[in-house]
Amino acid sequence: MTKKLNALASGILPFHEPGLDKALQEVIAQGNIQFASQHDQRTTEADLHFICVGTPQRAGSEAADTTYVFSAAKELAKWISKDAVVAGKSTVPVGTALALQQQMSKVAGFEVNLAWNPEFLREGTALEDSLNPDRIVIGTWNEHSAQVLRDVYKSITDTGTPFLELDVPTAELVKVSANAFLATKISFINAMAEIAEVSGADAVALAKAIGYDERIGNKFLRTGIGFGGGCLPKDIRGFMARAEELGVGSAVEFLKDVDAINLRRRDRVVELAKAELGDIANKKVTMLGISFKPDSDDLRDSPALEISQRLVALGARVVVHDPVALDALKTRDASLETEADVFEALRDADLVILGTEWRDYKELDPKQVADVVKVKTVIDGRNVLDVAKWQAAGFKVLALGRNIVNG
Ligand SMILES: NC(=O)c1ccc[n+]([C@@H]2O[C@H](COP(=O)([O-])OP(=O)(O)OC[C@H]3O[C@@H](n4cnc5c(N)ncnc54)[C@H](O)[C@@H]3O)[C@@H](O)[C@H]2O)c1
Repeated sequence: MTKKLNALASGILPFHEPGLDKALQEVIAQGNIQFASQHDQRTTEADLHFICVGTPQRAGSEAADTTYVFSAAKELAKWISKDAVVAGKSTVPVGTALALQQQMSKVAGFEVNLAWNPEFLREGTALEDSLNPDRIVIGTWNEHSAQVLRDVYKSITDTGTPFLELDVPTAELVKVSANAFLATKISFINAMAEIAEVSGADAVALAKAIGYDERIGNKFLRTGIGFGGGCLPKDIRGFMARAEELGVGSAVEFLKDVDAINLRRRDRVVELAKAELGDIANKKVTMLGISFKPDSDDLRDSPALEISQRLVALGARVVVHDPVALDALKTRDASLETEADVFEALRDADLVILGTEWRDYKELDPKQVADVVKVKTVIDGRNVLDVAKWQAAGFKVLALGRNIVNG
């Protein structure tokens, strides 16, 4: 077994996800989980298989790389039994399931029961989202597949969770279109932030005001350095690439703007930092938070990481603090210094940037921060700091989408 699987088998998670290590240890103790790197008789005996492998952005292209899904499915097809159901959970371009079903059936020598069952969990609350989802979506080609999935989710649907039985292409599309909508919502408010910045308005107050309209809602309407992670950015790009292949690229062409607005927020922070630091060479910048979101150590397409790397490229010395992601960072980018003690990270800083809205940073006492930094300037990349409190401690506070008057 690989190192990762050995660690999992002894109850150690290779990533940070609140509560999941405890849940893993419980199922290990109950004898309800096993790990393997090769298929064997146990695969043949199983009634249901989930395919959850990655679908990252393809190198040198905007499209999703589905090779991992096809390779996992092909291996699985050599071992599965005729009645078994295979449920795809990975986020895939619409039409992938049909191609997979055909490939698997060819390898297996019988019609494989493939279904699509998109995953909606959010990193940071993954366990809770899995046990209490907003909805469960399945797309199937036959009643047998639908029944097996109804049975497996029965304890959840019995509590009233909506269970949507759809056709397969719709099930595949639900996930990418939901992510496209969420990305659009964030970029919408960040587009308003660009307007606010040049018109004296305040995008945080604006978001609050428009969010009261139930048709709009206040969730995912927070202005800041935008979205990142292993899903939204690659999913909107993959969606555009797939629509183009299907001859309807113009239908989702607006996602190009959604992507561009999102990336421009990172430029904005770099510009603010440059303006504050002047001669940037060897200036110390403390980045508070490096993961793409709180309660996760995932660094994939993290806005805070990209901003840090760009500041280093400009000659700054960036010292990163993060409650859980420093080990992940060390293996990914050695050009960034790490410091596990937040006040040591802040010591003698010429500029502080809040990159991830960890609760730890919202709760920092600005007076204590003021005692250790060299220059009392903070860029709040997530609009979570209490501006008046930080200003009272002597800080100049800069934030995205706002025109904060500093004394
Ligand atoms: N991360 C999320 O929050 C989230 C939420 C919903 C949906 N998704 C989707 O779920 C899928 C997985 O996402 P992730 O974030 O877990 O990706 P990931 O890259 O973190 O994990 C994928 C795992 O698949 C393994 N893998 C690759 N090929 C394999 C194979 N042939 N056999 C066995 N294992 C293999 C890799 O080793 C890796 O551990 C993606 O399609 C993603 O879009 C992710």
